[in-house]
Parts: sequence; structure tokens; C-alpha cells
Amino acid sequence: MRHTKVKDLLNSTTTLHEVNAKGWVRTFRNNQFIALNDGSTINNIQCVVDFENTPDETLRRVTTGAAVSVTGTLVESKGAGQKFEIQVTKLEILGDSDAEKFPMQPKKHSLEFLRENAHLRVRTNAFGAIMRVRSVLSFAVHSYFQEKGFVYVNTPIITGSDAEGAGEMFKVTALPFDGTPRTEDGKVNYKEDFFGKETNLTVSGQLEGETFAMALGQIYTFGPTFRAENSNTSRHLAEFWMIEPEVAFNDLNDNMDLAEDFIQYVIKYALDKCSEDLKFLEGRLLEEEKSKPQAERSEMALLDKLNFVLENNFKRVSYTEAIDILRDSTPNKKKKFNYIINEWGADLQSEHERYLVEKHFKCPVILFDYPANIKAFYMRLNDNTEPGRETVRAMDILFPGIGEIVGGSQREERFDVLVEKMKALGIDEEELWWYLDTRRFGSAVHSGFGLGFERLVLFVTGMTNIRDVIPFPRTPMNAEF
Ligand code: 4AD
Ligand code: MG
Repeated sequence: MRHTKVKDLLNSTTTLHEVNAKGWVRTFRNNQFIALNDGSTINNIQCVVDFENTPDETLRRVTTGAAVSVTGTLVESKGAGQKFEIQVTKLEILGDSDAEKFPMQPKKHSLEFLRENAHLRVRTNAFGAIMRVRSVLSFAVHSYFQEKGFVYVNTPIITGSDAEGAGEMFKVTALPFDGTPRTEDGKVNYKEDFFGKETNLTVSGQLEGETFAMALGQIYTFGPTFRAENSNTSRHLAEFWMIEPEVAFNDLNDNMDLAEDFIQYVIKYALDKCSEDLKFLEGRLLEEEKSKPQAERSEMALLDKLNFVLENNFKRVSYTEAIDILRDSTPNKKKKFNYIINEWGADLQSEHERYLVEKHFKCPVILFDYPANIKAFYMRLNDNTEPGRETVRAMDILFPGIGEIVGGSQREERFDVLVEKMKALGIDEEELWWYLDTRRFGSAVHSGFGLGFERLVLFVTGMTNIRDVIPFPRTPMNAEF
């Protein structure tokens, strides 16, 4: 007999038929009640064992974490808390789990402990829910862009370019460490390396994505990206997933409209498809926040917060306006910020972004038109800016509790302006000859952005550490599993 998923059993429309379920024991009470979970839903199915007619030897092996197969009759449950249960006629232990040694005990574990057991934490309610929501969100991403006729592009993971110009890259090489081939002036001779040139793991698929947008019109990427930035924060990973749409003929306003519409769509999608998991995560967050001082608790429950984002437009604010607000803000005047905002041109730190979103506007914010010298080389220089106050058509979307969730821009489409900018920043034109070709042949206004997928999952699940929304996090000094 083929087993039925617990989710389907719990949604059954008929009873009194024989069913088989397979899963992992969460708890076993009174030698009689197994709470069985198979990962298809946050809910367990209760399996009632006829302990008088089951050998003691078998009962003893029903321990938390054990894999079992139960066959029996699906009946309406007399107990509170569940609609159906299985009256077990045949109980089989598929895989034992030593109750003394199994790390996922039926009790509350710290998130730190669970991180160290990332291969087993997915067997808990919270991580099962987070990983199902993550899966649904990634499908929502494809669904949104596919419905709109975007072409999905797989940009390379190994590349020779540093798209962000920030130099935070993991090298890819097949050269030996001992006896590394050197050039006459003592540098590593990458001509002898696997690709015959210096290569790294991609920090962004944008530059390659742009070349595709200039042929296919609207494209998106969704893949892993790698940054060797040594930021040990709750929002940074060394390996994260990024979604990067790029659209020909879109200007910055179109870009903001797209980003806002896209984020609202995927959140709505998760609300529709993951209501039980999100309700569970809402409860988890409430529980967690009970131990925090009032000032640090969220003002809204998780589902209210998600609905709020759907129902309210994101506030669009220029960098210059934001600087004025920050300069006049109480934490700035009282020197509460770690970085005091004195003048126009300052780079915004996450403390400033969070002040704007959480204290000042109290809604998602899109900041745009940043100073040119704090942003990447490829961003469109604004016309008519004051000398010394040049700005670029950049936009960052800031979310409550998260900070920056999206970074994007209108791209510099003018060949001469782009080349001049690259020269000023010492970016090798030869290396990016193919990127410059998009400006040589049929250049046009175009825009795009990158959304950090884990930051989106953080927001939707109400988790607070990015290490808890990716299966196996990679962070400085940590690449276990
Ligand atoms: O702002 P970033 O660096 O922008 C780009 O990479 C552009 N090429 C995107 C584009 O225009 N196509 O990164 C985009 C987003 C950030 O807003 C953030 O959400 C996420 O990627 N991100 C990270 N997420 C987790 N860990 C990190 N270390 C991240 N760095 C960026
Ligand atoms: Mg950014």
C-alpha cells in the first residue's frame, strides 16, 4: 500500500478507510499516542497505537526522531486539537533514533544550538515552516516574472568580472599553492591557470544580465551569489541567493514600480499558500519577543506586518531629503548614532536606514538619487546636478527590521560617460569590452535591481537572523555541512 502524505490525510473528505503514513515521530505519549510528522505540513497526525496488542519491543523503539510506518483506519478524532487520527493496526519501525542521543528533543532549543545542527533543525516545527515558506517564495519569484513574460537567464557563477567593483570576491583557481607559477615580476601567473585568466565566484549577475536585456527586453536571474565581505552580521551571508531583473527601456521610476509590484506579489503569494506555516511563525515571534524589552518588540504581529506591506505604497524619498531628515533627527542631535550625519555625501549605515523606516516613515521606503561617489560605476549620472553634488539614478528599498532589501538603478547607457567613469575608478576597459559593446551597439535606457532572497525570507517569516532562513549558511569561519 502506498503511503499518503499527512497533509492529505488531514484534509481528507472521507474516513473509515485504510491508510498508510510514513514519517518521523515527534512525541509518543502514554505508550499510545504518536504525533507523526512527514514534513508535508506543520501539523502532525495523531496515531493511536493498540498498545495491548503491540509487542513491548516495538513500543520501546517509538522514540522522538524515529522513522515509522503506520497502517490503520482514518477516523474522526475524539481528542481535541485534531480532526482526524489513525487507529493503528500495523506499526513498523523503519529507522531507530536513540532517544538519549537525538539532538532534537521535544523541547525549546536555542537558535544557536539549532544552527550547529542545521542538518536536523529542519525536523523542528519552526524550521520546517521556514523552509516550506522559502520554497513557496522561490516559486512565487518565477511565477511573477514568467506571468509577465520575462526570460529567466542563468548568468555564470564563475566569472572574471567584479560587477560591484567592491573587490569582495572569492577567487576560483586550479593553481597549486606550492610552486604557484609566477610572472617575471613575481605576480601569480594566471595565464597558466585553468581559465588562462584570473577568475572569481560571481558577486552579481547584473552585467551579463544587462547584455541579455538588450536583446530579450525583460530578463531576470535567480541564483547564488558570493561575497567575501567580512561582515559578521545578522543580515549578511557569504553565499546568498539574488534575484536580478533587468528591463530595456525602463527608467528609474519604472524600476521602482516593478520592484514594489514584485515584492507585493510574492508576499501575497506566500500569504495565500502558506497560511498555516505563517500563523505558526507569527506565534513563534510573539513568544520570542516576550523576553525582549517593550521598545525592541515589533509594533505589529507578523501577518499584520505582511498585510501592511501589501496595502501601503512604499514611500519614495530622495537621498537629499533623507539626509535632511537624519541630520535633524533626535538620535543624530543626541549623538546616539554610531556615525553622526553632518553633511551631504555621507554613506548611510544600517542604523540610519532603520531610523528612516522604523521611526520616521514607519513603512517601506525607497531611497533614490544617491551621491555618485558612494555607488557603483554603472549607475546613470543624473543630468543637471550641481558640480560636487553629482548624483546617480540609484534606488535602495529599505524594509522594517531588515534594512536594505533591494539595491538597483537605471544604468549609464551613454558610452562616453560610462568609459570616463570607469577610467576615473580604475576599472579595466579591456576586461569589460563585452559590457561596453552593449553601449556601442544599440544602447538604450535600461534599469534593474537585485533583491536579496534571504532578506525577503527573513521579512516574511519574521525571523531575525539571516542564518536561520537558508538551509546551510555560509558565514565567516563557518562552512559546516
Ligand atoms: O545592493 P547590491 O550589492 O546590488 C547588486 O548587486 C546589484 N548588481 C543589483 C542589481 O542592480 N542588479 O545587492 C543587492 C541585494 C541587497 O539589497 C541585499 O538585499 C542583498 O542583495 N545582499 C545580501 N544578502 C545577504 N548577504 C549579503 N552579503 C548581501 N549583499 C547583498
Ligand atoms: Mg546595495
